[in-house]
Formats: sequence, structure tokens, C-alpha cells
Amino acid sequence: MKYRELGRTGWKVSEISFGAWAIGSMWGQVDDSESLAALHKALDVGINFFDTADVYGDGRSERLLARLRKERKEPFYIATKAGRRLPEQTPEGYSAENLTGFVEASLRNLQTDCLDLLQLHCPPTEVYYRPEVFEALDRLVEAGKIRHYGVSVRTVEEGLKAIEFPGVQSVQIIFNMFRHRPAELFFPEAQRRRVGILARVPLASGLLTGRMARATKFTPDDHRNFNRQGALFDRGETFSGVDYDLGLELVENLRELLPEGSTMAEFALRWILMFDAVTCAIPGGKRPSQVEDNARASDLPPLADATLQRVRELYDSRLRNSVHPRW
Ligand SMILES: NC(=O)c1ccc[n+]([C@@H]2O[C@H](COP(=O)([O-])OP(=O)(O)OC[C@H]3O[C@@H](n4cnc5c(N)ncnc54)[C@H](OP(=O)(O)O)[C@@H]3O)[C@@H](O)[C@H]2O)c1
Repeated sequence: MKYRELGRTGWKVSEISFGAWAIGSMWGQVDDSESLAALHKALDVGINFFDTADVYGDGRSERLLARLRKERKEPFYIATKAGRRLPEQTPEGYSAENLTGFVEASLRNLQTDCLDLLQLHCPPTEVYYRPEVFEALDRLVEAGKIRHYGVSVRTVEEGLKAIEFPGVQSVQIIFNMFRHRPAELFFPEAQRRRVGILARVPLASGLLTGRMARATKFTPDDHRNFNRQGALFDRGETFSGVDYDLGLELVENLRELLPEGSTMAEFALRWILMFDAVTCAIPGGKRPSQVEDNARASDLPPLADATLQRVRELYDSRLRNSVHPRW
């Protein structure tokens, strides 16, 4: 496992880290003992950074990470998020009082007295035009409740606006072989300001692992069943916003480019790591075998220029028109 610096925090985080949404909720049935085994496996393979949120399983994901901290001695970082507990997503909801309440609840779930990294959880765009929200986060740092803060954004424009606030250490954004736009304007600007980038939904909700087919069934409680059109949250979070059948077709094109001996998941993650501005990819995983597979991406040699170019061509010819204007 290789490590990269996260923003100006001085932390060195594993370039393949762990996304802990699926072990909380919305990805079908999960078994805590298997989830915990996946978390242990992550530490075994050198992962030292975990992304979670207060709402993933109403604290279930955070509580599993607290158990991991109890059961293991090695240090690791936990990034959590706040804002999605609001009954309605309004900019006013992101008040100092509400944020403090969310932080206190996460501190209890994580059984700690200071959060490593708190991210605003895809708040309304208007929040990025309210300096008082970021001042409230500065106060939480001063109070010793959070060490650092960042944001999780839906669009490149939100990311560009967010990094104008000097306290923002990290931006979490969807970036994968189906979602190229962040690399254009946003990455160079984030790098210039030394802001870390967490690449979320790196496997396009599993599509890019090449293990899905038309006949694949998702249970009713799995967002890959109910959120394809954005019924509960932004449809870009499910299969990266790409039509499922088109996604399957493109995966077959990508499979032709697979480096010898690697899996599609490793290939998809290695593609992300080709971008220096990215601090880490945070693939979700529910089972130890997935974590092992994903971590191996860090050991793959760099991808050939011709491969990168072909991925780009596929994006430009098949996805750009629908993806680029939206996110
Ligand atoms: N708004 C936000 O801030 C936000 C939104 C979305 C995600 N996130 C964060 O980003 C993380 C990653 O995104 P994501 O979980 O949505 O999507 P993802 O990482 O693109 O896909 C994860 C899913 O792919 C499958 N998978 C993972 N590794 C695999 C492997 N090696 N082989 C086969 N299948 C594999 C698993 O599902 P199955 O085994 O069930 O197929 C897993 O749950 C989340 O966990 C969360 O921490 C944040």
C-alpha cells in the first residue's frame, strides 16, 4: 500500500482507503460480523483511512468503526459527515447549533472526544456562499471537537467554491472512469491550494467491477434498485448517474483494456490513482475479499498512455454529453 498526503493536515493516508456507507445502510442486508471482518482486513492490508457518515445506518457504520478502534492498536483516521440528519435540506439548517449537535452525536457513536475529519455532507449549493457555516466549523476546531474539516460535494462548481474557504482540507467528489470532469479545472486548483481529494463512488456503485449483468437483482432496500432515477438522493450517487444498460456495455469495452493479471476493480481504481491530485479512492466494501481486491490496485504498475487515451475516448464518445453538463 502506498500513502499520499491529505491536504495540509500532515496525515499520510492510504491511496486506497475504505468507504463505509455499505456497511451502514442502503446496500441490502449486511451482517455486522462480516462488516467488522472487512474493516479488520482493511487494516491488515495497510488501509488507514475510513470514510463514514452519521446517517449511514443511523450511526451503525460509525459504531462499527468505534469497535474497530477498540479491537486494534494501530492508528487510523476516520472521516465522518454531518448535515443529512436535517429533516429538510435548507442552508439555514447548517447552523452552528445544528452542526454542534451532529458533531456531539458522532463523538458518542465513535466513542472519542475529537473527530479526525468532519465533512459537510452534500449540503445545498447555497451553503458554499455562507461564510458563517465555515466560521462555525472553525469554532468547532478551536473547541477541540474536530481536528479538521472538509466537504463532500455533488458538482465541480461546489468544489471550486468550497476551496476558497482556507480551512477546507479536503473535498470528496465522484471521480471514476465514468466521471472525468473533476480532472479538468478542479484538480489543478485543489492541488494549488493543497486541498486533499477523496474520490468517492470509484467503482460506480460496483458497475466498474465488471461483475454485474442485466439479470443482476438488487434487493428493495438497495439504492441500486430504488435510486436509479434519484428517488431518494441525487441520481449521480447511484451507478454514477449512468444508465445501467449503457454502463454494462461500456464495462465490456473497458474489459478489453484490462492489464494482464488484474481484476476490473483493480483497473478502475488504478485509473483513479493515475491522477496525482487525488489523495485516495474510497471504494465501498462489505466483505474482506473485496477489500483485498481493491487494495491491490495500489501495487499495480502505472497504466499505459494508450490505455488512458482509450478510456478517455470512450468517455468522450459515449458519456461526456450526458455527464459533463450535469456534474
Ligand atoms: N454524498 C456522499 O458524501 C457520498 C455518496 C456516496 C458515497 N460516499 C462514500 O464513498 C464510498 C464509496 O462509494 P460507494 O460505496 O457509493 O460506491 P463504490 O465504491 O463505487 O461501490 C461500492 C460497491 O461495489 C461493490 N464492490 C466493492 N469492491 C468490490 C470488488 N472488489 N469486487 C466486486 N464488487 C465490489 C460492493 O457492492 P456489492 O458487493 O453489494 O455489489 C460495494 O458496496 C462510500 O462507501 C461512502 O463512504 C459518499
